Amino acid sequence: TDHYCVFGHPVNHSKSPMIHAAFAEQTGEDLEYSAIEAPLEDFAGAWKRFVAQGGKGANVTVPFKEDAFRLCDSLSDRARRAKAVNTLILETDGPTQNGRIRGDNTDGLGLTRDLAHHRVTVEGARILVLGAGGAVRGVLEPLLQARPKALFIANRTPEKAVQLAEDFRDLGEIAGGGYAEVEGRFDLVINGTSASLGGTLPPLAETVFAPGATAYDMLYGAEPTVFLRWAARQGARPLDGLGMLVEQAAVSFQLWRGKRPDTQVVRERLRQLLD
Ligand code: ATR
Repeated sequence: TDHYCVFGHPVNHSKSPMIHAAFAEQTGEDLEYSAIEAPLEDFAGAWKRFVAQGGKGANVTVPFKEDAFRLCDSLSDRARRAKAVNTLILETDGPTQNGRIRGDNTDGLGLTRDLAHHRVTVEGARILVLGAGGAVRGVLEPLLQARPKALFIANRTPEKAVQLAEDFRDLGEIAGGGYAEVEGRFDLVINGTSASLGGTLPPLAETVFAPGATAYDMLYGAEPTVFLRWAARQGARPLDGLGMLVEQAAVSFQLWRGKRPDTQVVRERLRQLLD
């Protein structure tokens, strides 16, 4: 039995063990997946202990994605650009890479696959992304690779959005600024701020949604977030981040096991558990 886990702090409410257990059952893979609360000041130590006990790979969630990034011997392009790792892979095949740590970031692909699942077209779309923190940085590369017409990052602290746009400029039509600089209507508005957690709404005009637009919140819960409720009142289609959670897990699972699980059953089961 191979061992995997999710590292977080806190981590006790993580859905990842349930998701990966379902994937393992479905694909017939012999693995165990647990949740480990790493100490805030010693993520590297927690990973080392896990490997010493036979750990083969891990997911990494808040607040350790940057610690995981610094721990890696090699990185995927998207993880290097995100400066954050949510998937650690212990490379043990072959004589040269014994015990080398590879880092990847599956959040962005999780988002674009979830959008595809819901038949939301990214190619040619005008996209507005709210927030310029780690969550947004983690998804920009796969989002831009899906070739939107334009992507604007709006953030409370405008300088962070401008910098982020600068960092990803070579990948597509991208710009950043403050909320006051948001202009025109968008086909897809993605909330990557943590504002929903405090029940507040980023300051957007009611005219921000184009006809047929989708509003996506990277967060999820039993109740729709304040952003999604507001968006639905403006006529946009609300989608929460539960599908993204399942899809990013599926990409990680495939990196570790080489098998792509079916996410539909797991989506349905999780949604029932939330209600
Ligand atoms: P994460 O890793 O979840 O992205 P983060 O890096 O702390 O966390 O980023 C949080 C994001 O939410 C930031 O874009 C933050 O805006 P600032 O950069 O201006 O701090 C945004 N945010 C948090 N609370 C907010 C609020 N009440 N209104 C608007 N934006 C908020």
